[in-house]
Amino acid sequence: MSSILLTGGMGYIGSHTAVELLENGHKIVIYDNLSNSSADVKEKIQEITNKELSFIVGDVLDTELLTQTFKDHNVECVIHFAGLKAVGESVEKPIEYFENNIAGTISLLKAMKNTGVKKIVFSSSATVYGDPEYLPYDEDHPTNAVNPYGRSKLHIEEILKDVCESDQDYSAICLRYFNPVGAHESGLIGEDPKNIPNNLMPYIAQVAEGKLKELNIFGDDYPTQDGTGVRDYIHVMDLASGHVSALSFSEDNPGWHSFNLGTGSGVSVLDLVKTFEKVNQIAIPYKITNRRPGDIAEFYSNSSNANRLLKWIAKKDIGDMCRDTWKFQLKLKEINL
Ligand code: WQD
Repeated sequence: MSSILLTGGMGYIGSHTAVELLENGHKIVIYDNLSNSSADVKEKIQEITNKELSFIVGDVLDTELLTQTFKDHNVECVIHFAGLKAVGESVEKPIEYFENNIAGTISLLKAMKNTGVKKIVFSSSATVYGDPEYLPYDEDHPTNAVNPYGRSKLHIEEILKDVCESDQDYSAICLRYFNPVGAHESGLIGEDPKNIPNNLMPYIAQVAEGKLKELNIFGDDYPTQDGTGVRDYIHVMDLASGHVSALSFSEDNPGWHSFNLGTGSGVSVLDLVKTFEKVNQIAIPYKITNRRPGDIAEFYSNSSNANRLLKWIAKKDIGDMCRDTWKFQLKLKEINL
């Protein structure tokens, strides 16, 4: 039986997609250098699904090991999650981001060429759109990334477009994630940043746990409903099912495609805080601070192409996202006690 290879599959979105793939009967091999994840996630994925999976510790820049892994596991397609993903860090370390994200993808494409694999689903991001010229963003919105992280994603999309142009048998699907949050309902896997969280939801979870003192809300003077930033938060399990749908779509649709994966609804920082407090019956102390440089006031998705062509729709709401995040955080706390 052939396998699906998940680069970075031990990470936040990769591990949840691994669960979804296994539960849909696929055979998978995870290839991860564990730079931002831990090996015990493999056992948790197997516990959740009661299915076996293969795991290779490796870096996407190691073309030789990647090629050997493709051969050993009879890989038929790839879902490419591996990459650095912190916007702020990318501004400080652009070369590291371009090497890991772009050179890493080129190494992966060489391994695919060495073994005749011509299907890839790529973990892209709404940051490729940059400042909104209109909202909601649809896939035709101009792409104009404004930081090295977003630019690395955009360059990779363009590389995949050229590869598809060079060989009509290739299929490349770029999934433009909005704001992934939440955790698997079991609470066994979720978002567990190694340092102080950059992103809102894991920060709120650590304030709720008492690990951090209070939330800093980066500005309440934006031209939005309550002055705080508005985003399109999507449950990570909805995102995971979007990858399974994209794989099915790629069976009969060679060529390059991009799809937004979001709910289409914008939620403000204050709304998210209030929802988290309500569904989990817990207070989140916060203070208003200055805006974070580079932040956009508001963005959210038009995901109708994914709805129509991938036959996919986000099913979980903001309450589910807050509830599942907290359940995971509490299990983490038990483990770290
Ligand atoms: C959300 C809102 C902040 C933290 C980034 C990347 C994107 C994707 C998701 C990788 C904003 C506010 C945040 C905090 C706050 N990552 N905020 N206090 O910046 O929309 O998107 O992460 O793919 O590509 O760009 O997400 O969670 O950092 O911020 O007030 O401590 O929460 O100002 O309005 P963002 P975020």
